[in-house]
Amino acid sequence: MHLQSIQLIHFKNYESEKSQFSSKVNCIVGLNGMGKTNLLDAIYYLCMCKSQFGTTDRLVVQQGMEFFRLEGQFQKEDKSYKVVAKVIPRQRKEIELNGVIHPKLADHIGLFPVVMITPYDIDLGMEGSEIRRRFLDNSLAQIDATYLTALLSYNRILRQRNAALKSFPPYQANHTLLDSLDEQLVTPGTLIHQKRAAFVKELIPIFTAYYQEIASGQEVVDSLYKSTLLELPLSQSLKENREKDILLQRSTVGIHKDDLQFLIKGYPLKKFASQGQLKSFILALKLAQYEIVKNNSRSLPLLLLDDIFDKLDQQRVQQLIQLLFRKEFGQIFFTDTQKDRLVKIIEPFGVEICQLEIADGAVSELC
Ligand SMILES: Nc1ncnc2c1ncn2[C@@H]1O[C@H](COP(=O)(O)OP(=O)(O)OP(=O)(O)O)[C@@H](O)[C@H]1O
Ligand SMILES: [Mg+2]
Repeated sequence: MHLQSIQLIHFKNYESEKSQFSSKVNCIVGLNGMGKTNLLDAIYYLCMCKSQFGTTDRLVVQQGMEFFRLEGQFQKEDKSYKVVAKVIPRQRKEIELNGVIHPKLADHIGLFPVVMITPYDIDLGMEGSEIRRRFLDNSLAQIDATYLTALLSYNRILRQRNAALKSFPPYQANHTLLDSLDEQLVTPGTLIHQKRAAFVKELIPIFTAYYQEIASGQEVVDSLYKSTLLELPLSQSLKENREKDILLQRSTVGIHKDDLQFLIKGYPLKKFASQGQLKSFILALKLAQYEIVKNNSRSLPLLLLDDIFDKLDQQRVQQLIQLLFRKEFGQIFFTDTQKDRLVKIIEPFGVEICQLEIADGAVSELC
């Protein structure tokens, strides 16, 4: 699968721009702040119906504009697909496939699999659990349609439960309402839990193998899936924690509290890893994510690599490139501030590159 071309209108710093891509390796070059990351984010948006950075559409639309529109021409298994995103933030959001609007955005996710690796991924190791749940969700939503449906229902019922908990006057909780909401949470919650557990099980060996290669390291790395559902079934833990939930006015157990624990030499990554080990860890994790999405999709996912040259040292970049071109990879997009740097690095592999130069939201092709 590959993206042949894209058109952006009022998307971040792009007023109106069109660009064609190579089906193999594309390198987007330009100075800081020119719109390289934004272009990758537009590609991500066409696949995932949202920005990679978890920002709202209000921040995605060009400042001062009311709507944005993206159009991508994809090629998949010898067929052409036109994907159009038309968004008026807080009012309307439509994703069209070959002229037909998807009834639900969720129907689109997974049709054009994608993985983006950005410098912000370091947050996976440093920030709170929400970003790690998003990592699990973004992977699983693309490879399992039942997962996203379950997640959307779980989140909807959870919002109702939290609103109910906040609305009860002291000592007057509506237990009948809570019984009904708890019952509705169990099926989607349990399905999500099982899928996450299976995903992490598949992820760990791939991730540890990548880590050993990237870091040429001897240290043992691991990732553990943490969930209250590992100790007790959801129905039981909701029941056991009900009084606490009523007191605190929020739901304290469930898959919305899940986390991934990252370990290096048996210690928490955040506290124990050096800067280099942290970068290698996160890169290995994201490449493992790519591999699982690839293994579970019918077509090779797009791989968007933002700024890896500036944020990784030369040795790690070499190792990454070797890894990339040794295995089967589909269309890849790199961004770089330096023209021709990537060309020099991948020349020995005999891989052809298309360079695109960006200056202030205007793209010119150099290939
Ligand atoms: N909604 C928006 N409207 C207008 N401009 C925006 C919007 N969102 C972001 N920008 C601007 O887009 C510009 C380009 O950002 P981008 O992150 O794509 O640059 P970059 O080429 O990746 O730079 P770097 O090399 O520093 O990573 C920035 O100046 C940013 O302020
Ligand atoms: Mg950038």
